[in-house]
Amino acid sequence: MKILVIGGGGREHAICWKLSQSKAFHKIYCAPGNAGTALVAENVPISATDIEKLLLFAEHQNVDLTVVGPEKPLIAGIVDAFEAKGLRIFGPSLEPAMLEGSKSYAKELMLRAGIPTAPFRVFDNPAEARDYLQAQAYPIVIKADGEAAGKGVIIAKDFPEADAAIHSLMEKRIFGASGDRVVIEKCISGQELSIMAFVDGETVLPMVAAQDHKRIGDGDTGPNTGGMGAYAPVPAATPAVLKFVQEKILYPAVSAVRETGIPYRGVLYAGIMLTEDGPYCIEFNCRFGDPETEVVLPLLETDLAEILNAVVDVELDKIPVTFSDRSAVTVVMASGGYPGDYETGKPITGLDAAAKLDAVAVFHAGTAHNTDNEVVTSGGRVLTITATGETFEEARERSYAAISRISFEGAQFRTDIGRWALGIV
Ligand code: AMP
Ligand code: GLY
Repeated sequence: MKILVIGGGGREHAICWKLSQSKAFHKIYCAPGNAGTALVAENVPISATDIEKLLLFAEHQNVDLTVVGPEKPLIAGIVDAFEAKGLRIFGPSLEPAMLEGSKSYAKELMLRAGIPTAPFRVFDNPAEARDYLQAQAYPIVIKADGEAAGKGVIIAKDFPEADAAIHSLMEKRIFGASGDRVVIEKCISGQELSIMAFVDGETVLPMVAAQDHKRIGDGDTGPNTGGMGAYAPVPAATPAVLKFVQEKILYPAVSAVRETGIPYRGVLYAGIMLTEDGPYCIEFNCRFGDPETEVVLPLLETDLAEILNAVVDVELDKIPVTFSDRSAVTVVMASGGYPGDYETGKPITGLDAAAKLDAVAVFHAGTAHNTDNEVVTSGGRVLTITATGETFEEARERSYAAISRISFEGAQFRTDIGRWALGIV
């Protein structure tokens, strides 16, 4: 088959890498890809959001299956555009992608479906939002309704902070139209998990649970990032928790979407919080998580291409999807200064030495080739270094051993990935 993977981060490298291990040979393209995807796929210089060009490429190359990594093209309707031309594509269409594209849409669907989630209200008017906020208990959570590059959630500790958040989102419009509507919800607490599932509209097959580490610094300190590391499986995701998430969160969501008339197909990602009252759904994403994918796919035993095809053909009930009982840890190496300003173009050394280590996969996130054909940094998150092992400890040691062989100017990484699994909380 000819498969086109859309995106250019660690998640897409992991998807291309896994597809390259399929039983059958596949010609894999990655648009736009990075220096790592170039090792297992042919990079195509088209942006992940240029739907028109991607469509023309898929038509001209007779691509059999397109796999969408990031949310942006999904929320912009890439699946509808491809399907209208008779092209096979993995991901939800526009309406179900609103589970990620609009927080009020997601919360209202959760309410309808009886999915446990924090109580909430939706506001389109700043004065009404302020009136409501004046009478609430704090802290309270305020979210921009639309896409805000993961920065649209504010936890306000008192009314003045909430007031400032309403000003930034709704009046200053720092995220543009995404903040014209806000969701205000009760602040809940507990350990967070990411549970992704393959969904063909009917069948829901969860993957192993993973945990992301969003803060830049050890001990979960400093600003939020796109994710500094992840591990899977998660000890806190007991069989009882997984059963609850499957039966009370994932299935009801997929059924509620189906009732709108357009089935959910693709990966459904549930952000879960383990509260004292049981698992709550914090959010849905309409795609593979990043960096969760970099730990989940290395544990997948079933052929990924077969699963993706089964989802598109609505035949997921016909294939068994299994995961190994090993553990996986991924640690992100980021540019100095990230998540603030950082420089790019720094040559990276030691990539081959690290990749040669047993059970290690060096996934590239923000890398490119310079004019001398050296691999250089090109983004905030540069590499995500995954290792698997019989135990969590073994996986973790391997990942850090691989990192110690790699260097570039200003590199930073967390030294405590998996702190929850280690019991350091
Ligand atoms: P979201 O973009 O909805 O995933 O929110 C980003 C992060 O904000 C989550 O991963 C949580 O850590 C936090 N968060 C979101 N909603 C709540 C809530 N109701 N209570 C406490 N923390 C929350
Ligand atoms: N790791 C969080 C996300 O993919 O949204």
